[in-house]
Amino acid sequence: MARTATLTIDGKTIELPIVVGSEGEIGIDISKLREQTGAITLDPSFGNTGACKSAITFIDGDKGILRYRGIPIEQLAEKSRFIEVAWLLIFGHLPKKDELARFSQRLTQNAPLHEAFKHHFEGFPVNAPPMAMLSAMINTLSCFHTHFLQLDDAEAFEEAAARLISKVRTIAAYSYRRSMGKPFIYPDPNLKYVANFLHMMFSEPYQQYIAPKEVEDALNLILVLHADHEQNCSTSTVRVVGSSKANMFTSCAAGVCALWGPLHGGANVAVLEMLESIYRGGLTPQQCIELAKDKNSGFKLMGFGHRVYKNFDPRAKILKESCHKVLNKLGVNDPLLDIAMKLEELALKDQYFVDRKLYPNVDFYSGIIMKAIGIPVNMFTVMFSIGRMPGWIAHWKEQHDDATARISRPRQIYTGPTITDYVPMDQR
Ligand code: SDX
Repeated sequence: MARTATLTIDGKTIELPIVVGSEGEIGIDISKLREQTGAITLDPSFGNTGACKSAITFIDGDKGILRYRGIPIEQLAEKSRFIEVAWLLIFGHLPKKDELARFSQRLTQNAPLHEAFKHHFEGFPVNAPPMAMLSAMINTLSCFHTHFLQLDDAEAFEEAAARLISKVRTIAAYSYRRSMGKPFIYPDPNLKYVANFLHMMFSEPYQQYIAPKEVEDALNLILVLHADHEQNCSTSTVRVVGSSKANMFTSCAAGVCALWGPLHGGANVAVLEMLESIYRGGLTPQQCIELAKDKNSGFKLMGFGHRVYKNFDPRAKILKESCHKVLNKLGVNDPLLDIAMKLEELALKDQYFVDRKLYPNVDFYSGIIMKAIGIPVNMFTVMFSIGRMPGWIAHWKEQHDDATARISRPRQIYTGPTITDYVPMDQR
């Protein structure tokens, strides 16, 4: 017998189907609610609302579980590399040798940008926020790859996905070089994905930068951990934009815009700024905790809390361990790590945080590692975008391939004025 939920409204009772997920999650299907009752549901910020069914990523926020296509993030962090994870998320299985070789080749071939992009970069002020440039440049890719605006076969999709994943890295590096007043460094076809990015970031025309293995591994790990996170704000944005049949480039450019916010991907920058203000003597860790608890302060403990995780964010646990390993290997002694650990220690035993189940999230430790490997703070959220690109593409594809998908168009409860007449100027 199919499970249902019973709803009675204004004396009328209806049965609503219950959808059960592969991990036992249940959802009440209200797609016929308005037709049957005239009512809609109201759930600002969608905390209780599923926007879709998805087979890409599973999170259990109470248990601190995160799996990409069923594989635990802990195993992928230890055993996989970013490009393999990108394929897993997008195509639903770990790549076979020939698939990985083909995809890697596509990434290498597609690393360069059209020379005209240089003029586009030169149109930005030198101190332009890298996230503004990134979303603009990703959208501009639609102009240079018009044959990929319609993706109706597997070959075209795979090539477009590779172009986006490869070029986001080049665009990011170029935006950094532009901000430093340095010449663009062309990609090196002999380098793998992360090493090539670091080369484009830090090489000079007269001297190539070959990243030490521990730096390359640390950045690979960061990208793996950021690769997808089900229906987060920016991924939901990609899905909403894509639901109008907008092309994949422009949908992902919209994802960059949503990720920029300090409540979302912008938090990794805010965490570093918070830690540095403590380090400079602005605030003690305890004062930070007290401020975060004071509703009137407008201050939040950045890198803490999560809409879904009401336990440790598994990514934060992995990043915290990696912080120690990477900084030790690099011989970096960063006082900000000690401050972060002190904040975590204070928060985890403070009733305000305990009652609200506020734990460190992915942004709390990621910046300390990125700082140690030389990524400038204003590029942290750009790195998050590079990591999340495969997840955005995977969700865009999952929706694009769903023949039943419709344009996203939520309803509202109107609270404005009832009917009024127009008032001519001389009577106002
Ligand atoms: C990411 O969704 C994803 O999956 C996102 C992400 C991904 O991979 O895509 O995981 C990446 O965005 C991580 C989150 C990064 N943002 C931050 O670190 C910013 C600081 N965190 C908060 O702004 C907040 O925790 C959010 C935005 C992350 C979650 O917001 P919610 O779910 O709307 O929670 P809420 O604001 O309703 O908080 C519930 C309570 C409130 O107190 P009460 O009104 O119940 O008294 O907890 C408090 C909040 O004031 N609270 C905090 C807090 N986070 C929540 N108080 C102080 N400091 C904080 N950081």
